[in-house]
Amino acid sequence: MTRSTMSSLVFKLIFLSLFCSLLVSSSDSNDDGRKIYIVYMGSKLEDTASAHLYHRAMLEEVVGSTFAPESVIYTYKRSFNGFAVKLTEEEALKIAAKEGVVSVFPSEKNHLHTTRSWDFLGISQNVPRVKQVESNIVVGVFDSGIWPENPSFNDDGFGPAPANWRGTCQASTNFRCNRKIIGARAYRSSTLPPGDVRSPRDTDGHGTHTASTVAGVLVSQASLYGLGVGTARGGVPPARIAVYKICWSDGCSDADILAAFDDAIADGVDIISLSVGGKVPQPYLYNSIAIGSFHAMKRGILTSNSAGNNGPKSFTVTSLSPWLPTVAASSSDRKFVTQVLLGNGNTYQGVSINTFDMRNQYPLIYAGNAPSIGFNSSTSRYCYEDSVDPNLVRGKILLCDSTFGPTVFASFGGAAGVLMQSNTRDHASSYPLPASVLDPAGGNNIKRYMSSTRAPTATIFKSTVVRDTSAPVVVSFSSRGPNYVTHDILKPDSTAPGVEILAAWPPVAPISGVRDSRSALYNIISGTSMSCPHVTAIAVHIKTFYPSWSPAAIKSALMTTASPMNARFNSDAEFAYGSGHVNPLKAVDPGLVYDASESDYVKFLCGEGYTTAMVRSTTGDNSACTSGNIGRVWDLNYPSFALSISRSQTANQSFRRTLTNVVSGASTYRASISAPQGLSISVNPSVLSFNGIGDQKSFTLTVRGTVSQAIVSASLVWSDGSHNVRSPITVYVLG
Ligand SMILES: *[C@@H]1O[C@H](CO)[C@@H](O)[C@H](O)[C@H]1NC(C)=O
Ligand SMILES: *[C@@H]1O[C@H](CO)[C@@H](O)[C@H](O)[C@H]1NC(C)=O
Repeated sequence: MTRSTMSSLVFKLIFLSLFCSLLVSSSDSNDDGRKIYIVYMGSKLEDTASAHLYHRAMLEEVVGSTFAPESVIYTYKRSFNGFAVKLTEEEALKIAAKEGVVSVFPSEKNHLHTTRSWDFLGISQNVPRVKQVESNIVVGVFDSGIWPENPSFNDDGFGPAPANWRGTCQASTNFRCNRKIIGARAYRSSTLPPGDVRSPRDTDGHGTHTASTVAGVLVSQASLYGLGVGTARGGVPPARIAVYKICWSDGCSDADILAAFDDAIADGVDIISLSVGGKVPQPYLYNSIAIGSFHAMKRGILTSNSAGNNGPKSFTVTSLSPWLPTVAASSSDRKFVTQVLLGNGNTYQGVSINTFDMRNQYPLIYAGNAPSIGFNSSTSRYCYEDSVDPNLVRGKILLCDSTFGPTVFASFGGAAGVLMQSNTRDHASSYPLPASVLDPAGGNNIKRYMSSTRAPTATIFKSTVVRDTSAPVVVSFSSRGPNYVTHDILKPDSTAPGVEILAAWPPVAPISGVRDSRSALYNIISGTSMSCPHVTAIAVHIKTFYPSWSPAAIKSALMTTASPMNARFNSDAEFAYGSGHVNPLKAVDPGLVYDASESDYVKFLCGEGYTTAMVRSTTGDNSACTSGNIGRVWDLNYPSFALSISRSQTANQSFRRTLTNVVSGASTYRASISAPQGLSISVNPSVLSFNGIGDQKSFTLTVRGTVSQAIVSASLVWSDGSHNVRSPITVYVLG
């Protein structure tokens, strides 16, 4: 055994055992103690036809005579090499030690994380488009499927699928593609949960919503029961949609995600939208999204990925790969509010998406005075599951001291309405009954009113729209940095609208996510899942102007033209929004880009401690982690700068970058730095002259000094007078 395979083995075993212990509860487990594992073997074989024989020989060697061919769930061979197979932990460890195996990891469950937002972003219906080119772009939407009959996917005026499209439509009695939805496949590696349909059809709503946000056609008078009425449209209405259904009612498994990447890359999608993520950060070559998007990147396909909905705590972002844009969610200028009128004539403004119109006053009851048997006021006041007596609240408006999950509503289903309280009211949700979320001060006023009268009453009005002049602000639930795996790569990369987005919806999917009497073709929901497809669409828009650009160049254009934002909290800043709020109008003319190719990411992976053997398998060429090829993280040609230091440390770090000119003619750019006191940032050279498209110039940025806060924000702008190429510089204290 050579040294490199030895250390590679150690590396593999450490991560494998780490995951087995950390995540065992949520993996796709089986009755016989076997679980589904991904065996990732890097780039695709020359001879894809015999891939399964090759995998089988290896399995027979490890599993022995008991090997059952049906334990192989997927063979990945069209775009990379590997398989998903049911194994015991012991067998998984043995396979991890095999030559040619890059990584072995259990298939975990990932989770799913209008269109006014396009006007807010400055993309009017009349924005200049290269419509003919846009119509040849195929967006791969990896999600919960699609409801093809929704008017947003009407194919009137669309020609046949682009000539180079190689995908298929898994049509069935209940599913047909059209000239707008030109491909659809469904992936399910384990038993189907009860109620799910094995078809690309979406019964959840999420996939229909995200697909229409990217590429829905114009639909006038779209609304949710009159709320948010207007013309619904995606960011790039002429683009085509290819559906890869990877998410079911119990989540989205790694084995299925990789199967979708394997097909989508080979099918010829131009871009991938993935509003899905895991719960915990994972190293790059042990993560289905990182691996899949790496192979997509190799083929020039950008994958746009949501940051996650686990904020506002630090280190919650789980989309960490430098080769994809990670998208946070922020508000737009439209906000839904819901007025509450008390019997004494006082009104309070709450937050919710309330389509119901109560019309009359109803008796009010405080949940603290309505405990069910076995509970007392100290729990029922928060309306915890089953804590409220349904007989006491029937026909009344219930006042609770908190907000709670949708499943709770079933336990007091007979209530006429519900008033909740929260300090965090930066996004509105839907409920299966009239509801409004008040701030605690409003809640206290209502309690005072209730104790002042024998028969307190209230009514909850249908929601109305107000203008939110504070927008854009990153919403509390959006996952925050720092980056857990690579501290000195800033994540998330940017933010886009993800709060209260109106987009297409299946008529069978519940509006509020739980049993709901309503049905609609458009719904208003929030999440980084909603912001990710905005960035996908902007990336398509950029690609129509610059078809040959690499994923890194597109990502750079998105980031360097983003509008700077301000921290709401000291600890937040770039860890909430990265480079800032995406600006589609500027993104199509960035002036300069920080480009990067596969070899740059290979250097980066070598610098991250991956071995030659692992990196070679992944790339399929002879790139190796030899001395000249081990990249310093600070030199990856990234469009932002991050530096972590310890509390006692003084910052002293240089970063190397290369800019590529993307505009014809000669130009001269000057660097300007904005930095807080105590931090000295220099750029050398500080003037760069370019001669035409493709000309490249390098510079070094050096950060020195001390930081007085947990996170300090600075920035670098290269300007030629008309283009401002901006990068955030973030220095933070780790630990
Ligand atoms: C209410 O119930 C909780 C939990 O069962 C218990 O800890 C608490 O002592 C009870 N409070 C009263 C006032 O009975
Ligand atoms: C900063 O780092 C450079 C290069 O490693 C080194 O030469 C220099 O002495 C350092 N400066 C300080 C003040 O530590």
